[in-house]
Parts: sequence; structure tokens; C-alpha cells
Amino acid sequence: MPIVFEATPECARDLDQMDFLFSFRERFLFPQHNGEDVRYFCGNSLGLQPKSVSYLMDKELGDWARHGVEGHFKAGYPWFSYHHFFEERLAKLVGAEKEEVVAMNTLTVNLHMLLLSFYRPAVKRYKILMEAGAFPSDQYAVETQVRMHGYEPDDAIIEIAPKNGDNLIADEDIINAIKEAGESLAVVMIGGVNYYTGQFFDLEGITKAAHSVGAYAGFDLAHTVGNIPLKLHEWDVDFACWCSYKYLNSGPGGVGGAFVHERLGNDPKIFRLAGWWGNDEKTRFKMQKGFVPQRGAASWQMSNAPVFNMVAHNASLDIFDKAGIQPLREKSLKLTGYMEFLLKNITHLPFEIITPADPAKRGCQLSMLFGDRGREVFDALTKNGIIADWREPNVIRIAPVPLYNTFEDCYKLYETLMNIK
Ligand SMILES: Cc1ncc(COP(=O)(O)O)c(C=O)c1O
Repeated sequence: MPIVFEATPECARDLDQMDFLFSFRERFLFPQHNGEDVRYFCGNSLGLQPKSVSYLMDKELGDWARHGVEGHFKAGYPWFSYHHFFEERLAKLVGAEKEEVVAMNTLTVNLHMLLLSFYRPAVKRYKILMEAGAFPSDQYAVETQVRMHGYEPDDAIIEIAPKNGDNLIADEDIINAIKEAGESLAVVMIGGVNYYTGQFFDLEGITKAAHSVGAYAGFDLAHTVGNIPLKLHEWDVDFACWCSYKYLNSGPGGVGGAFVHERLGNDPKIFRLAGWWGNDEKTRFKMQKGFVPQRGAASWQMSNAPVFNMVAHNASLDIFDKAGIQPLREKSLKLTGYMEFLLKNITHLPFEIITPADPAKRGCQLSMLFGDRGREVFDALTKNGIIADWREPNVIRIAPVPLYNTFEDCYKLYETLMNIK
């Protein structure tokens, strides 16, 4: 039966009643506003805390207290192999083989480490192609990587911008630019979902185009992982990295993740900076000379796992595993569809939605670009217990997250906007 959306509280309540993922919100802690849970639309920036985190953290602290150094082998989740506990669940989220993913470091660090492996410029092939308006940390990473190899960013970085005054970048423009750059191109590095507009790029098409000219394709999936189901292995993506504090609810500065396709992860010719944790586990504690990489993405690890920084990740990935990324995506399409429908009913405020209208080209985020009054509207939302996200110069981002947002949340946001005169 097709869903009929209406801008009424009854419709929002009915949609919530039909939502079989509704109870998952019970697993999260909500900030309070006037004694009530806020309406939290900021999971694209920092996800909410799973209630199970404090229990699991206490358990980990207890293991440390009880076992001291022996916790490396005797803890409930032995610290020696802690990163392995994430492989299966992460692999499901990004569509990878277990060996292709690893939880380690943080996002920008992982991006640098992966570029150190895959951006190996040569006389002819030295350019990196990225989207204009990428998240600043990605821009800085790419800029300093090219400088490290003695190139000037203006020459070595190809930025693809939207055309004809549009806010979005056409996938064809990226693909055509890759073909045009041809043999000069070493790496394509794109944000899977753009942080500002919420646009989801054609990762498979971009990867295919990059490979057709002999370049690597890598993606920053900060705004994609846990938001949109992915098939990194099948799409033949070379490398990717992400953070876990947004849709993956793993807390501020939470451990990042990386993907390296098995074609490359097990190829000893691919250079990687080494540390003992990336070494073959059988000889890790033998303290011998000569790095022997373990299999797959895990060989990019350097240091032993920051266990306390991974506890929330463990808690959150369990919730994802129970809900399933596919059912979450199905709910997300409805929830964001409803939010979009409601926003389109608002005609008295000066904004347009710049996120793609095609649900296949976006995740849960909608970006509202304001002519003026943007900051005033944002402040009014906050005052009414609605947590959205402000991005300079004039965008309010809202992310109805299927794990913990409701259709009623969307209605409340709409009602608050309607009440702004
Ligand atoms: C797209 C993107 N790239 C990079 C970063 C920086 O992440 P980190 O501070 O974990 O390195 C962020 C942070 O929000 C981001 O959204």
C-alpha cells in the first residue's frame, strides 16, 4: 500500500505505529530540554550514546582492575585481538569481506595513512581529483600530501565544482573529468556523501572511471557509513575511511575505520607505514626485526587498540547488527521522505532544500539553504528543544536518523518552523 503523507500529528503518529524499528530509540540516551527528550536531528554530526555503553565501559574497567596486563588475553574481549571483534559487523555495514576492514585511529589519520599507500606520484601520473567543497580536513590532507611529494596543490589537485550555479555536482562531470585527466591521474578521493549538501555520489561509477585510466579510487565515508548500505568490495573500491561518531554513535573522537580491497590489502608491493599491531599476530610478540604484515586492512594498524575508545563502538555496532542496515535504510527513506514532504509545505521561510530530491542520491540528511534568517531560524529551533546543525555560511542540516528519530520528531520540527513568523 503506498504511503500517503499528511502534515498532521495524527499522520506522524500513524507512521510511528507502523514502524517496526520504533523500539530501537529506547536503546539511546537523549539530552534533555525542559524535562523532556530533545528532538535530536544531529546524528550526522554526533550520534547519541547507546545506553549499553556505560555497562560495557564498567565491564572493561573491571577487566583492567581484575587482570592488569593479563587482560590482553583474559579480558571478556581480550585486548590482544580487540580490533577483530569489529570486523564482521563493519564488513556488513560497508559491504566488504572481513579482512578488508579494520577499526583503528581516527578519520583524518586514516586518510593520510591510506594516501601514503595509494598516492605514490610518478613523473606523469601525479594528480588527485576531488570534489570542490570537500570537508576542510580532507582538503588539508590532500593539499599536504601533494606538497609532501613536491607538487603544488594548484597544479596537482583537480577540483570538480557544481556547474551552472547549481549546488550539486553531477556524477557525469566527475566521471568526464577523470577521463579527461587520463594518465595524469593517480588517485580519485571523494566524500561518499557530501557533508554540506548531503549528496551521495555514484561510488561504483567513479571507481570504474578511475580504474579505466589506471588511477586508484578512495572515499571518505564519514557521512555514508551507517547511513546508506554500501558494497565496497563488489564495486571494486580501492580504499576508504570513515569516523564512527556520526551515524555509528561511538562517541566524540570515537575510533575510525578503514577499508582496503583484498586485491591490494594482501599485496606486499603496496607500501604501508608499519607498526607492531599491523604485524603478523603469530610473531607480534617475538620482538624480531623485519615487519611481516598480517592479512588485509589490519596490516595498516600501527599501535595497540585504544580499547576504552572502542567500547562505545562495540555497543553501537551491536545495535546496528540487531536492526540491520537494510531495514534501517528502508525506514530512512520513509522518514526523510516525510521530513522533505513537511518542509515543502513551508512557504513563509526563505529556504530551499539543496540535497538531491532523488532518494537514491542521498542518505537521511536534508540541507536547508537559507537566503537570510537562517541563523534566526536555527536559534528558534534550539530554543524549542530541537537540535539541528548549523553550517556556515547559511545551511541548516537536519538528519532524521532511523535508529532513534520518529515521524513525530519530524512533525514537531515542521510545527516549530510553521510557528516562526
Ligand atoms: C567528511 C569529513 N571528513 C573528515 C572529518 C574529520 O574527522 P576527524 O576529526 O575524525 O579526523 C569530518 C568530521 O566531521 C568529516 O565530516
